[in-house]
Amino acid sequence: MQELQPVTLTPQHHAYQEHLHQATQEADRLVQLAKSETLADGGLRTSQILGQALAADPHHHEARVLQERLNQMSVPRWHFPMLADKARNHAYARAIAAKVKPGDVVLDIGCGAGLTAMLAARAGAKHVYTCEQQPLIAEAATQVIAQNGLSDRITVIAKWSHDIVVGVDIPEPADVVVSEIVDTVLLGEGALATLTHAMSALAKPDARAIPEHGTLMAQLVESDALLDLWRPQEAEGFDLSAFHRFAKVAQITPNDMAACTLRPLGPTTDVFKIDFTRPNIKPARTTTDLFCSSSGAIHAVLVSFKMTLAPGIQVENGVKDGGHWGRTAFFLDQPQTARSGDRQTITAQHDAANLSVSVHDPVLDANDADAAVWMRAAWNDQRPLRNRRTPVTLATSIRTAPNDQTGNNTRRPIH
Ligand SMILES: C[S@@+](CC[C@H](N)C(=O)[O-])C[C@H]1O[C@@H](n2cnc3c(N)ncnc32)[C@H](O)[C@@H]1O
Repeated sequence: MQELQPVTLTPQHHAYQEHLHQATQEADRLVQLAKSETLADGGLRTSQILGQALAADPHHHEARVLQERLNQMSVPRWHFPMLADKARNHAYARAIAAKVKPGDVVLDIGCGAGLTAMLAARAGAKHVYTCEQQPLIAEAATQVIAQNGLSDRITVIAKWSHDIVVGVDIPEPADVVVSEIVDTVLLGEGALATLTHAMSALAKPDARAIPEHGTLMAQLVESDALLDLWRPQEAEGFDLSAFHRFAKVAQITPNDMAACTLRPLGPTTDVFKIDFTRPNIKPARTTTDLFCSSSGAIHAVLVSFKMTLAPGIQVENGVKDGGHWGRTAFFLDQPQTARSGDRQTITAQHDAANLSVSVHDPVLDANDADAAVWMRAAWNDQRPLRNRRTPVTLATSIRTAPNDQTGNNTRRPIH
């Protein structure tokens, strides 16, 4: 057997090893610095420092993990299926082409990756001002827009629309306001408050808006599979029904929708109409009847929307539609047997960002909505990190951040 000879390191090897060691030490130092940085600027500085750490040592494990963590905190995961939603993208492309005229000043609220802003520039806008409350998203969008050769036509403003001042951030009020800030029930991403401000403070009096209006609809549905998914009667022989009180509202992902086969028991009934051109943030309540046109077990009231972007151009998230938006279902406490011709009374209520639905039983007074099941105030949980009172760092957020920081919550449930 051949004897192994000891390896003699050349001075170049020694120098290289020393270089690697110093790079790792520098990356370690930068990672400690990144962890102590507050996220009050939305993570910009933390991201830059982590970028420097990875430039020094591209394989630094902790730097990579923290960078990914920061990205996941800052960029809700629904951005990706949303950008892959061809029906949504195409509807916006058609509506923007129909409503933006050459020479228009366009305000695009909620830049994201920059898609709607670029569509407005393509439609001939004189200039597009697009705002984005998350600075890391705004930074990436600026890059996307540059890569598409549109930097001279689009200005990215890394701010909340509410903080934009005409004459400071944008030179004149907008001719057209474009936004796509609606969740599965239209209201949860704060569109009403945002557009109330934008249409009065940032747009010309006769400005056009995309979207124009939306309708929230309710429908009785039967689905054993949905019930099993959210309210399993038993597990391994144990009765779990006392836990069902926590599962009154189901956030249904597109995959759940495909897997659970919701059977409509009747037509949709319009519950609220939302005007995005002249929005109104006043709460509203309605009591209405949902009708059964076939027999079955009523398991839930499904809420869906249709949103008109421009005349004849709509996006929808009804039972039969695809797309990335989820659906929301409000379960009945107990399934009810229904025959064709039966009706079920519900009370629905909304404020600026939340929707509630209560299903009446025969003894519930029509004016008593105390039993209403409120959807979680998703938007309130999603205040940007920089608006929080207590400074949060990446290190503390790892311990304290609720799951919502990933954005995988009620807004646009993914998968
Ligand atoms: C649903 S995405 C849409 C992105 C892009 N417009 C599109 O349609 O592909 C909405 C984006 O708007 C941002 N946003 C929501 N409300 C905002 C507001 N009032 N001001 C600034 N940004 C906002 C969110 O951070 C998010 O990145």
